[in-house]
Amino acid sequence: MAEKINPDNKLTPKELAKHLRQPEGETGKEVGLQMNKGNKHICLNSYKVLNPKNKNHILEIGMGNGFFVKDLLKMADDLNYLGVDFSPTMVNEATIINEALIKSEKVSFKQASIEKLPFNDHTFDCITTTNTLYFWPQPQDNAKELLRVLKPGGKLLIAYRSKSFMDQIELSKHGFVKYDILDVENLLTKSGFKQIVTETIKEPELDFDGDIFEMEGIYTIGIK
Ligand SMILES: C[S@@+](CC[C@H](N)C(=O)[O-])C[C@H]1O[C@@H](n2cnc3c(N)ncnc32)[C@H](O)[C@@H]1O
Repeated sequence: MAEKINPDNKLTPKELAKHLRQPEGETGKEVGLQMNKGNKHICLNSYKVLNPKNKNHILEIGMGNGFFVKDLLKMADDLNYLGVDFSPTMVNEATIINEALIKSEKVSFKQASIEKLPFNDHTFDCITTTNTLYFWPQPQDNAKELLRVLKPGGKLLIAYRSKSFMDQIELSKHGFVKYDILDVENLLTKSGFKQIVTETIKEPELDFDGDIFEMEGIYTIGIK
């Protein structure tokens, strides 16, 4: 049985695209919950590919409502997680969903944009970001900003869908920039990352507005 997204066609492709880029208000919350279904595999696989080590300080860009943060925290001991999203609605939702982890001081969330991160140079061991690349306003500058806040030897993971998949869905015509593996690897090389590698992982089929899609996540890693 395929996972379902936008089951009752409640939103037009343009409206859905707007909330995928920056979820807002009650509709944004609802889209956030739908993303937890449709993006479950790519989110969980991104954390597996990231493969954090004990005591790592992890930054996630665009965590949405942060539903899977609890799963990342189980992957090693004493992880410290900071999630950044430029949507106030998502930061609020993530704060509610992860209340217990926030109390334990293992997790925190902040509203900010990838364009200018409110962190010192060399702060994080790992940075992960899933399904945000399509919306980066200045990709090379934004990748350099990630490089700046990574520690030397730190790891960046970008998880995304292929251009060929995106070309099949109507909503990607509304404000999405589409990337192939070579585009992402070139972006990271030009921005100063090294040891760039990509892997792909197949997922169960997805039911998107009644159409069934073969799914695959792409995971590109670069090292500072
Ligand atoms: C398509 S959702 C993906 C959410 C989650 N990572 C997933 O894969 O289900 C994109 C998220 O990135 C956030 N986002 C988009 N552009 C951003 C930016 N410039 N800075 C920070 N967050 C951004 C959006 O607000 C949204 O929560």
